[in-house]
Amino acid sequence: MPLKKQIESVRNQFLADIESFPNDPPLIDQLRSKYLGRKGLVAQLLSKMSQVKPEDRPNIGKELNNLKIDLNRQFDHKVSSLLAKDHKYADESIDITLPGKEPRIGSIHILEQTLSEIKEIFISIGFHVAYGPEVDDDYHNFSALNIPESHPARDMQDTFFVDNKTVLRTHTSNVQIHLMENEEPPIRYIVPGRVYRNEAISYKSYCLFHQVEGIYVNKRVSFAELKGCLEYFIRHMFGAKRKMRFRPSYFPFTEPSAEVDIWDEERHEWLEILGCGMVDPNVLDNVGYDSNIWHGYAFGMGVERIAMLKYNINDIRLFYNGDIRFLEQFI
Ligand code: PHE
Repeated sequence: MPLKKQIESVRNQFLADIESFPNDPPLIDQLRSKYLGRKGLVAQLLSKMSQVKPEDRPNIGKELNNLKIDLNRQFDHKVSSLLAKDHKYADESIDITLPGKEPRIGSIHILEQTLSEIKEIFISIGFHVAYGPEVDDDYHNFSALNIPESHPARDMQDTFFVDNKTVLRTHTSNVQIHLMENEEPPIRYIVPGRVYRNEAISYKSYCLFHQVEGIYVNKRVSFAELKGCLEYFIRHMFGAKRKMRFRPSYFPFTEPSAEVDIWDEERHEWLEILGCGMVDPNVLDNVGYDSNIWHGYAFGMGVERIAMLKYNINDIRLFYNGDIRFLEQFI
């Protein structure tokens, strides 16, 4: 039989074989080597090329080559469609009917979101934003703020001491002093930052938390302005209907002093969110501002407490344990 005919017959044989294609990997391999193996049918045809007349060789050679390419392609095609269909190989195939995997997207922490809202409100009424040290000396955290040596806030139980004269700041009020030491009045700043207290941990108190301090010093500053400013802030933060109250209080560095509570609907109790007052003249004198000319108000608010009230979060510890189920509620 001429080689051309033999090529034809191998092709037909292959088409019949592939029609009843086996579903077994070993059988697939067998079939492939029957045709394309080193001693397979295609190789046998190739070895007969020497018998072909020289003028026919280019033509027959081309046909043989085509046969080889063709068979290879059909094998590959069959094998891949078999893998896609056959459940035995499901783990090796891509099931395009499955829904895609949603990638986890990071988010801005709810405390950071709350802080941004607070900053925006104060910036809109003329406050600048400043920052100060978290590790500070006793003088800036206590003495300059009119907190006497014997004041209970200095107690080992409340303050984390780094050494005798250095503390982790217990409030952001230390930055009031730094700002006034470095700038001439009038000044108007808010100061966000972390503070540390060695307190009993509970649903509303943690050993570290965030505050936003506010300080405004000018020639004419009144308690009414302080009230107006904080009311404006609370209305914008919590909405006009949220119940709030000013309550007289005491801080060594303000006189008179007050605290602001917000009504907690969930727990049916008032929750304190900030302390405030008129800057004590002693503090102004400590930083070299003439307290006969300059007056000021200051406030310091707890960011966690504000976020808890605004977003109905019932435990301050949730902010710090990195639980994704908690965090992803605030994306
Ligand atoms: N520093 C006070 C506190 O941490 C809050 C405060 C700031 C009070 C400024 C009055 C003025 O509780």
